[in-house]
Amino acid sequence: TLVSDLQAVLRDVPDFPKPGIVFKDITPMLADPRLFGRVVNAMAAPFRGQHITKVVGVESRGFLLGAPIALALDAGFVPARKPGKLPHRRIIERYSLEYGSDGVEMHEDALLKDERTLIVDDVLATGGTADATARLVQRLGGQLVGFSFLITLDFLEGAKRLGPDKVTSLLSF
Ligand code: PRP
Ligand code: MG
Repeated sequence: TLVSDLQAVLRDVPDFPKPGIVFKDITPMLADPRLFGRVVNAMAAPFRGQHITKVVGVESRGFLLGAPIALALDAGFVPARKPGKLPHRRIIERYSLEYGSDGVEMHEDALLKDERTLIVDDVLATGGTADATARLVQRLGGQLVGFSFLITLDFLEGAKRLGPDKVTSLLSF
């Protein structure tokens, strides 16, 4: 199955980037074109037929999944970037991370009013990043249809924070 094939390649890296954090390394999955393609299709599947017109991918690992998922859904791609990276007029939301604190920005013209929007990232941990991205989508007048993650870390209860009915993920730990 997809889940068992993923479990076979995803690497747990203890104490990265900080002591106590177990980092989920997705690079072996990205390196396998068949598996990468199956992941993209499976992450897009719950949102097919839901008239998604924009996929927002969160820098940086969310870009790797968000861009191909956007193409799979015949939607446009919007990068949500770390502060100071976007060149045009932008809005920011701040959040606290499992390790540290950061912010996320989007161009203020990135979404049309009521545009049906999907947020994509590799990992849902505390939900701080995804929640801040959702606030950006709301501020720009987009309609947030849901979130698609590769991995959910259930013990951090991020889905509870985002609204469990809006969250899909392929794997949870
Ligand atoms: C990681 C991960 C998610 C976020 C999840 O990104 O890729 O984006 O943390 O954590 P949260 O649910 O507690 O907010 P990170 O900020 O490490 O950056 P990266 O994607 O550039 O590696
Ligand atoms: Mg990230």
